[in-house]
Amino acid sequence: MQIGKVRLGGNLLLAPMAEVTNLAYRVVCRRRGASFAFTEMVNSDAILHSNRKSYQMASSCADEGIFGIQIFGNSPVSMAKAAGILENTRSPSIIDINAGCPSPRIRKTGAGSMLMEKADLLENIVRCVVESVTVPVTVKIRVFRDVSQTVELASQLENAGASAITVHGRTAMQQYSGVADHLHVRRIKEELSIPVIANGDISDGAFAAQVLEYTGCDGLMIGRAAMGDPDIFSRIAAFLESGVESPPADCDQRKSSLEEYLKLLEAYGLDKKINLAANSAWFTRGLAGSRSFRKSFQDVKSIDDIISRMEMLC
Ligand SMILES: Cc1cc2nc3c(=O)[nH]c(=O)nc-3n(C[C@H](O)[C@H](O)[C@H](O)COP(=O)(O)O)c2cc1C
Repeated sequence: MQIGKVRLGGNLLLAPMAEVTNLAYRVVCRRRGASFAFTEMVNSDAILHSNRKSYQMASSCADEGIFGIQIFGNSPVSMAKAAGILENTRSPSIIDINAGCPSPRIRKTGAGSMLMEKADLLENIVRCVVESVTVPVTVKIRVFRDVSQTVELASQLENAGASAITVHGRTAMQQYSGVADHLHVRRIKEELSIPVIANGDISDGAFAAQVLEYTGCDGLMIGRAAMGDPDIFSRIAAFLESGVESPPADCDQRKSSLEEYLKLLEAYGLDKKINLAANSAWFTRGLAGSRSFRKSFQDVKSIDDIISRMEMLC
């Protein structure tokens, strides 16, 4: 799949997820078949105020290869400035604009999915960010209840210079309830000429193939199903190639991806900055005995401690 001048190694993207898609997690997913990954959303105003944490969120390294930075904000001028600074200091291959976050804390500031309700402002943001950087600019939106309104917005964003659009098929009101409606992607794909990426509820090869076929989209973005199960990318890629569903990741596979993740966190100096117990718990979802394992995590002291407890689970 190609976004502007950027060629991705495939069409399976890791979704930006706050407090999940840190550099270490992105690298684990890329090594296991994700074609591309975005940072979690980075506050553009915080970048303008030289906030250290936000700069770190936007950082990458050679292990990752090409990557994207997602920014959020409410002002064309500040978002354009922040995008320019990030392009110069962090060298992303793509800048993505968050226009889908449903969190009341973000919406209150006029950012995230609130921008969908001010289409002209969002269009102006896209135009200004596109002018301020040389890399392709993409936008991640949710949907309106009315399909034609979603298509109209997508088309406005294409005209403003967006190089691709990702669509999470839920309204902002729905947050994460109900099911994603991929009809919006299908209609957008019929209307637009830029790549369209479908997002929402993709958790196995069969459904991934169905969404690709139904929508005609160019790529798929996977979020929650990849938390603690980075092998999902290679399983879906294998299904798309062969039509055969691979068995879900077993305890040994989960253990090895957890171990790799924890070691990378340490190598990148991120292990003290995240909640190790909560992050490690993702890797045990659905495994027998995982509940007591998660309880036993509350007092973990070190990465070695976590790995030896996971060994006992398998
Ligand atoms: C913990 C969490 C954090 C998220 N953070 C972001 C974010 O920073 N930016 C964004 O555009 N979407 C964010 N999302 C939404 C996901 O990118 C994705 O659109 C959504 O989870 C639907 O995809 P899925 O069904 O594959 O999970 C987040 C979702 C979750 C569960």
